[in-house]
Amino acid sequence: MPDSVISLSPKPRARVQAMKEYHPPLGNRDALRLDFNENTVACSPKVLEVLAGISAGSLTRYPERESVEAIVAAHLRLEPAQVALTNGVDEAIHVLFETFLDACDELLLPVPTYTMYEVYASVTDASIVTVQAADDLQFPFERLLAAITPRTKIIAIANPNSPSGSVATREQLIAIAHRAPHALLLVDEAYFHFHGQTVQDLTGVLPNLFTARTFSKAYGLAGLRLGVLAGPVGSMRWVRRVLSPYSVNSLALACLPAALEDTAYLNWFTGEVMAAREEFEIALDAAGVRRWPSRANFILVHIGAQHAQFVQLMRAAGVLVRDRSSDPGCDGRVRITIGTRQQMRHAVESLNQSLATLRIERKPE
Ligand SMILES: Cc1ncc(COP(=O)(O)O)c(C=O)c1O
Repeated sequence: MPDSVISLSPKPRARVQAMKEYHPPLGNRDALRLDFNENTVACSPKVLEVLAGISAGSLTRYPERESVEAIVAAHLRLEPAQVALTNGVDEAIHVLFETFLDACDELLLPVPTYTMYEVYASVTDASIVTVQAADDLQFPFERLLAAITPRTKIIAIANPNSPSGSVATREQLIAIAHRAPHALLLVDEAYFHFHGQTVQDLTGVLPNLFTARTFSKAYGLAGLRLGVLAGPVGSMRWVRRVLSPYSVNSLALACLPAALEDTAYLNWFTGEVMAAREEFEIALDAAGVRRWPSRANFILVHIGAQHAQFVQLMRAAGVLVRDRSSDPGCDGRVRITIGTRQQMRHAVESLNQSLATLRIERKPE
């Protein structure tokens, strides 16, 4: 394209120009994928049956979400008006921020945490206030409380958190909601199924509490893009003004009831991950690799200055892991998703080999 044409093209908003580019390494992932905290096996076979039965006729219609929202609400023991389906939790975050964050507002984030909070907040005119976790990466409860100001509009907490795997307790989350009655507390429970503790039952009880859940992790449906946002009815009305009525597609809507019904599959997968997590922790300790306690389907480990080579060596051995070195306070750290016990035994072999290679590289003859 000639330069003259480029120079005529309109500039995006200043906030967008100031945004950092974010390109998660999603290309070329034909390997053991321990890099995005996905389900490493499959979704429920019942979901695949539904997909196989999708008719051409059903694809000609716009997606109809209301009846499925009612099913999800009943499953979560909530009212339909308290629940909205979204195109992944990412859309829930995006829409919540678009709905509530104004120019003078602050989004309060304990960090390190899920990258997309910052990405979506950067598109709004609000400022982002971060509270850095200490080296143990435990939830910085007291310092988060101290960082609440009259301008705090949303506090977003992933529980369990990524990439650390650490958790906030129910009591801490309730205390935060009480301390900031003028703000919204978003508790992102993307990894709920590996942790088992929730505050979602307090929807409508705590007037400023939102929770989000995803079908991308334990349910194995990351490709369908399906999330659930739950919140007080009054606030959800505002969210629905911004949320696209079409953003959850009809394939996802058709599959969701089958995914919810197949609790046997979900329990099998989460049980397998939790058993594998324990085995993997033992293997990391035996290898002398520092790790952070995790209640999710991943573990953050310390590799040190050779983190990038480590990720490359693991890739060469057919195992994808995620370099989190550029996350705040995470220099030299790598996040490893937990799959099945069998998959993790393979990962341990690759890990030990990669560490041995790094040691040789560090001490040349
Ligand atoms: C804390 C957290 N929230 C949300 C998401 C994204 O969920 P979804 O695939 O439903 O958009 C992730 C994905 O890694 C995550 O780690």
